[in-house]
Amino acid sequence: MVIAAPATPLTLTLTEEHEMLLTAVRDLAAKEIMPIAEKFDDSGDFPMDTIKKMGAMGLMGIEVPDAYGGAGMDTLAYVLAMIEIAKADASHSTIMSVNNSLYCHGILKFGTEDQKHKYVTPIATGEKIGAYSLTEPMSGSDAATMASRAVLNTAGTHYIINGRKSWVTSGPVADLIVLFTMTSPEKGNKGISAFIIETDKSGFIRGKKEPKLGIRASATSELVFEDYACPVENMLGKEGDGFKIAMTVLDAGRIGIAAQALGIAEAAYEAALGYARERQAFGSPIGQFQMIQQKIADMKTRIEASRALIYNAVLAKEKSKIDGSRYTLEASIAKLFASETAAFVTDEALQIHGGMGYSKELPVERYYRDARITRIYEGTSEVQRMVIARNELGLR
Ligand code: CAA
Repeated sequence: MVIAAPATPLTLTLTEEHEMLLTAVRDLAAKEIMPIAEKFDDSGDFPMDTIKKMGAMGLMGIEVPDAYGGAGMDTLAYVLAMIEIAKADASHSTIMSVNNSLYCHGILKFGTEDQKHKYVTPIATGEKIGAYSLTEPMSGSDAATMASRAVLNTAGTHYIINGRKSWVTSGPVADLIVLFTMTSPEKGNKGISAFIIETDKSGFIRGKKEPKLGIRASATSELVFEDYACPVENMLGKEGDGFKIAMTVLDAGRIGIAAQALGIAEAAYEAALGYARERQAFGSPIGQFQMIQQKIADMKTRIEASRALIYNAVLAKEKSKIDGSRYTLEASIAKLFASETAAFVTDEALQIHGGMGYSKELPVERYYRDARITRIYEGTSEVQRMVIARNELGLR
């Protein structure tokens, strides 16, 4: 398969390595993840065993070079694997996406050689769990208004961090965290800096775990910093670079969430297809009724449109690796459309299933709940529209 996008001379080619990866991921998803998805959704426990197995396969650092413990593959490999894992269980794909794009990508792009070896390798191999912490109780979409602070000590050796972060995916279990906090509040977004946090040090406290509607096996919590002493060498990039690092990393993250949304939509769509073929009403399979056929046609069309937009974003990210160009627009478009597609498709799939779709006996209600977060995290649909429109208008 060769995909060429009009905006760039690059093409996407599904290589033998991609095919091998897909086969291995589908096998793991079918044998290890699908069978436990319902149980972990019910309990809300973190699926550490299967996450470790995914790590051993290289799925926690797909684009991370071999030298830092990763699989050394490209962005197409990342989205193909994300789609398959999300199809099996969205929670696993959330944990995978944070490790790959929100954690590893930022350190690879902005970190020193020492930081990459020390902090990327254990995450890319799946030995440890990573997280990304930007949001605060009073600072979500308006990410630059954070109240947490990092102050350099008089010896100039450590930043002393105080404050409260919220909605941190993998917060309850993370070993390492890329944290964004204010070093110069008077400078607004140019006063934010990024730090790599080791969570086994004093002054780091895990806060309340969030009870959630969906992706229940992916743990989310508050984090509290009380005079946490972060060594100066753990600053990521330069002082004041934090906001741009956070936004650059979210561009990569949003492609991952788009792929996750597509995977959830595909799972719901396949369930709906099967049900529409089998379920009899008024003397024939319900799939023979035009109202069901219209749903199927609209679901399939939006799924394929999402895939095309995700591939377009993948091409833009590959181009960025060559010339450093931004792919903010392509990532936001893909995330916006794929997450809204996941909402539409899971809702229609539930409707096609009727009462059975509403029952916990089938996974369709889980797909419906899991899809909801993709329109919220890593930038709400409203933020994506803001990013897209500002980009088009050239206004902020
Ligand atoms: N890449 C590089 N630089 C960027 C950028 C990007 N994608 N986006 C903005 N910038 C730069 C701008 O160029 C600008 O730089 P200059 O001042 O030097 O020109 C600077 O950053 C400020 O940009 P804006 O004026 O556009 O910033 P803003 O304050 O108006 O915010 C926003 C824009 C798009 C709304 C942004 O705040 C945003 O994306 N908010 C949503 C945050 C978000 O996604 N949060 C989710 C957190 S993660 C999560 O969900 C939890 C989890 O664990 C998964």
